[in-house]
Amino acid sequence: NKSEIGLIGLGVMGKSLAKNLLSNNFRLSVYNRHVDGIEVDVAKRFVEDQSESEPILGFDDLEKFVNSIEQPRTIMVMVNAGKPIDLVIEALIPLLSNGDCIIDGGNSHYKATIERSEKLAKSNIHFLGTGISGGEEGALKGPSIMPGGAKAAYERSGKYLEAIAAKDKSDRSCCTYIGPDGSGHFVKMVHNGIEYAEMQLLAETYHLLRFYLSKTPIEISDIFKNWIQNGAQSYLLEITADLLLKKENEDFLIDKILDKAGQKGTGGWSTVAALELGVSLPTISESVMARNVSGIKSKRVEASEIYKLDKSQCDLDEETFINNLEKAFIATSIINHHIGFELMQEASTTNQWELNLSEIARIWTNGCIIRSTLMEKISELFLLKNQSSLLLFPAIVQTLKSNVTALSEVVSAGLKSGYPLPVLSSAINYFYSYTSAQSSANIIQAQRDYFGAHTYQRVDKPLDQYFHTNWKS
Ligand code: 6PG
Repeated sequence: NKSEIGLIGLGVMGKSLAKNLLSNNFRLSVYNRHVDGIEVDVAKRFVEDQSESEPILGFDDLEKFVNSIEQPRTIMVMVNAGKPIDLVIEALIPLLSNGDCIIDGGNSHYKATIERSEKLAKSNIHFLGTGISGGEEGALKGPSIMPGGAKAAYERSGKYLEAIAAKDKSDRSCCTYIGPDGSGHFVKMVHNGIEYAEMQLLAETYHLLRFYLSKTPIEISDIFKNWIQNGAQSYLLEITADLLLKKENEDFLIDKILDKAGQKGTGGWSTVAALELGVSLPTISESVMARNVSGIKSKRVEASEIYKLDKSQCDLDEETFINNLEKAFIATSIINHHIGFELMQEASTTNQWELNLSEIARIWTNGCIIRSTLMEKISELFLLKNQSSLLLFPAIVQTLKSNVTALSEVVSAGLKSGYPLPVLSSAINYFYSYTSAQSSANIIQAQRDYFGAHTYQRVDKPLDQYFHTNWKS
């Protein structure tokens, strides 16, 4: 009895997905390359660790693994993005048959996914570039899954992904066909961009409460829990409220953690994509830059000693400030999501991906890192009108109108007192730019024409006409 699906790569995510596939009663083959120096084969050991009744076969021989899967084959590859995935694909090509399908479930760059699909298409092999979010626990219990590639491949192999994904509140799978070629990995990249900015937003909010307001981690955790109760529920807010309570002996663990953030690049990829597509991505880009600045710890320490800037305490009414901070948090989160969805919309138009924004938000309502009540709302809104901007939906206008004043007040007070607020401040800046009928760009156009004769359009003339002025005469 051959396996229905194969899985390559038994790292943390691969193992969890394999267990998830088994708990959904799929007959499974797993492969892990033989690791020199380790006596027991990784795949065999994994199989031994499963209960005997499980329909699983383990291999360290790729050919035997491939031959153990029924045709047309579906093979999920859970290895690191970059070179490792290419090596696996190279090794698989001669072993596969027409119509087989490879699913790349790693965080691959969407352009690499486009190239790989084109290459594999020449060998009549399908390729589904698939974003998977939710970390180890999500992979085990149900992640959010974003597959992109040929529709025909999804129609055949998508059932496995739909079965193992999380369920939304209506019990529908948090996996949907995203669109052709690199769209699945593009959407996962934007998911991570939104994730970066939501994390930085929480970090800034915590920082203000801790140092500007001198609250303890326990008090801050309670404030965050209160916000959850008030309706701002999100996974990231929940884990932040929780991690603040972790103690190590007498100390809070958070105080022992070095303030240098790591990153694997997906946030920055979103920024590059935004630059290429000519869209604005301030909250996400600022969250990447904030991680970069965090990395220059020794320079920051030196500069702080040279400048000795005062970081003053809050002299406003404390309760009012916390209320404003809650509103600022809500407003920034909405603006950040809007920014991420605008990027997907532009990519969709440019690449003719026909992304369904409501469905993307829906599969992000559970299983993934950025699941939240806001995401549920966004999914409902885009169902009303797909090609719209989040900030233009009446329900969002109403919420922002009652929250942005608080956002500008929090940012003004925080900056005045010496606290860096890259995401909060970029959100209000973006919002004011987005809602300004008159921007300052007429000056830019005049400058460009002045020094470089780049020409400009006029408000009082048809837009297909361009003008140049001899500015010095
Ligand atoms: C997810 C996460 C995950 C991502 C990490 C790494 O959706 O489960 O987005 O896929 O790779 O969060 O991000 P860093 O760049 O912060 O390491």
